Amino acid sequence: MTTSPNQKLYEGKAKILYSTGAANILLSVFKDDATAFNAQKRGTIQGKGAMNCTISSHLFRQLESAGIPTHFVGQLSENEMQVKAVTIIPIEVVIRNLAAGSLCKQTGLELGTLIAPPLVEFYYKNDELGDPLLTRDRLLLMKLATPDQVDQLANLALKINKILTDFFEDCGITLVDFKLEFGLDHTQQLILADEISPDTCRLWNQSETDPSRRVMDKDRFRNDLGEIESAYQLVMQRVLAHSI
Ligand SMILES: Nc1ncnc2c1ncn2[C@@H]1O[C@H](COP(=O)(O)OP(=O)(O)O)[C@@H](O)[C@H]1O
Ligand SMILES: [Mg+2]
Repeated sequence: MTTSPNQKLYEGKAKILYSTGAANILLSVFKDDATAFNAQKRGTIQGKGAMNCTISSHLFRQLESAGIPTHFVGQLSENEMQVKAVTIIPIEVVIRNLAAGSLCKQTGLELGTLIAPPLVEFYYKNDELGDPLLTRDRLLLMKLATPDQVDQLANLALKINKILTDFFEDCGITLVDFKLEFGLDHTQQLILADEISPDTCRLWNQSETDPSRRVMDKDRFRNDLGEIESAYQLVMQRVLAHSI
C-alpha cells in the first residue's frame, strides 16, 4: 500500500493525525484545545499541546523501558509525536486508585476513598452516546473486543497502573485515576496508544492539602479552578526530572 505523506487522516478533540509516507507510521499533533463534559465545555489551554506531547512522550518511554508495548516512536517537536498506526479498540480503559469524578457521582463514594485493589472499568468510546460505562458482557455482545482481548486489556492496564503509580509517587504526585486507549498494530499485536497526560489522568500534588489547590489535571478546567497552565507545567517539570 502506498501512503501519501502529510494527509490529515483525523482531527479529534485534542490531536490531529497525519500520514507520514512511512508505512504504518503516523504523526500525532497535539493541540491546545480543551474540551470537557463530552465537548459541551470548550476552551484553550495555552501551551497544552506541547506540554501533553512532552509528558506523554516521557511516560511512553518509561513504559517501554518497563516492557509495555506502546505506539510511541519518537517526539519530533514540542507538540508532534511519531506513532505506530493502530486500529483503535473503541474502549476507554479507566483505572481508579482513589474515588473521584463519575465514580463518586454514580456510587456515592466519598472523593478520595482508597480503592484497593484498583478498579478497572471499560467505557464505550462513542461521543454520540456519551461514552457510557460498559459491562464485560455488553462489550462482548457489541463485539468491541474478544474475551481474550478483554483479559489482555485488564492485565495490561493493571501493569501500567503499577508502573505509573510508582513513577508519579517519586514525583510527589498521586495518580488518582486515568484513561487508556489500546489498538492493534499491523501485526495484530495489542499495544498502548493515544496519550497519557493531565488531560487523561487525575493527578494530585502531594505537597498541597487543600482539595482545590492539589489538582494538577484537567479538573482545573472542568471545575473552573484557574491556574491550569501552571499546573500542567509543574506536572511536566516533575515528570521530566524522573525516570524509572
Ligand atoms: N497510534 C494511533 N493510531 C491510530 N489512531 C490513534 C492512535 N493513537 C490515538 N489514536 C486516535 O486518534 C484520535 C485523535 O485523538 P483525540 O484528539 O484525543 O481524539 P478524540 O476527540 O476522539 O478523543 C482518537 O480517535 C484516538 O483514538
Ligand atoms: Mg482523546
